[in-house]
Amino acid sequence: METEIIKVNPTGFDAKELEGAGEILRNGGLVAFPTETVYGLGGDAKNKQASKAIYAAKGRPSDNPLIVHIAEFSQLEEIVREVPDSARKLADAFWPGPMTLILPKNDVIPMETTGGLDTVAIRLPSHPVARELILESGCLIAAPSANTSGRPSPTKARHVAEDLSGKIDCIIDGGDVEIGLESTIIDLTEDIPVILRPGYISLEDVEKVVGAAKMDPGILSEDAKVRPKAPGMRYRHYAPKGNLVVVEGSKEAVIKQINSLGEKGVSAGKKVAIMASSETASCYKYGEVFAIGSFEDEDEIARNLYGMLRDFDTKGMELIYSEAFETPHMGRAIMNRLLKAAGHQVITVS
Ligand code: TXA
Ligand code: MG
Repeated sequence: METEIIKVNPTGFDAKELEGAGEILRNGGLVAFPTETVYGLGGDAKNKQASKAIYAAKGRPSDNPLIVHIAEFSQLEEIVREVPDSARKLADAFWPGPMTLILPKNDVIPMETTGGLDTVAIRLPSHPVARELILESGCLIAAPSANTSGRPSPTKARHVAEDLSGKIDCIIDGGDVEIGLESTIIDLTEDIPVILRPGYISLEDVEKVVGAAKMDPGILSEDAKVRPKAPGMRYRHYAPKGNLVVVEGSKEAVIKQINSLGEKGVSAGKKVAIMASSETASCYKYGEVFAIGSFEDEDEIARNLYGMLRDFDTKGMELIYSEAFETPHMGRAIMNRLLKAAGHQVITVS
């Protein structure tokens, strides 16, 4: 299949430019589109065949449920059994935006979309193109991240094309995304809200709105028996082809350790990459240094992470050493993705 690419200016486009994409969705086809977090691969959430096609295009296990994207809060009421107070409060605080809520589903959304679960994940994105596409298509849009399963989520239309060209009907190129990490997922089916995936909206942000909340023990624990509740958080994810190791500890000790590992790698004839902050990048003497962003600007670090992980593959990097980025607000989300990419290979130095 030939994948059509539609370029739109996210800050000044006409709804008409999305008419064709809306029609593809109504007919059961697949359209990748920008959101404020990462690019999504959309299909009509009420159409079982469309959901099956999404799984097939991504090579995604069929028990890993999709997020349903809506444009108005009333569309949430259409697809869930009840709307708890916490959902209203969180929606008031963070929608439109990078938050996904898990609630018990009714029969409107088929099990094919929710990976066989009787709960449904719902997000009301703030990106103008995502919102307009939902309205224009008249569909609720089921959309996972628009990458091949296991690869980093796409933050540019080019990343989507790399993975899915020829496998989907259309890509809407709305430029680079703003946040670069997937939405915070909050499960509202238990006694207190549980964060199943950290993101731009932090645990502290959630607590300010609903009082008590907690992180899913499954994503904090190194113990393989404590399984994450979100099926997608159980899989190997984001890993570059080269071997990625995170080095954490005091700044001086980290620089010394990475330089020593880098030197060994280079003298063994390996292609070595160093992932560092812009403040420390000049301290590394071996291999190719990639500056991910400033410690003073954690949004920049988050926004560049997935693109950089992809670049390591494009450039054939074999050994990758990264600093840790425990930044104040998004540190939990950034480190969750980085540690997954590293298969939890961490060296602690002091
Ligand atoms: O920012 C985002 O959330 C992006 C954009 C496109 O909206 N989407 C995204 O979707 O990251 P995806 O499919 O890559 O990740 C969805 C995650 C998976 O880990 C999945 O297992 C979890 O949400 N999930 C979906 N429905 C769930 C449910 N009913 N219960 C628990 N986890 C669920
Ligand atoms: Mg994903």
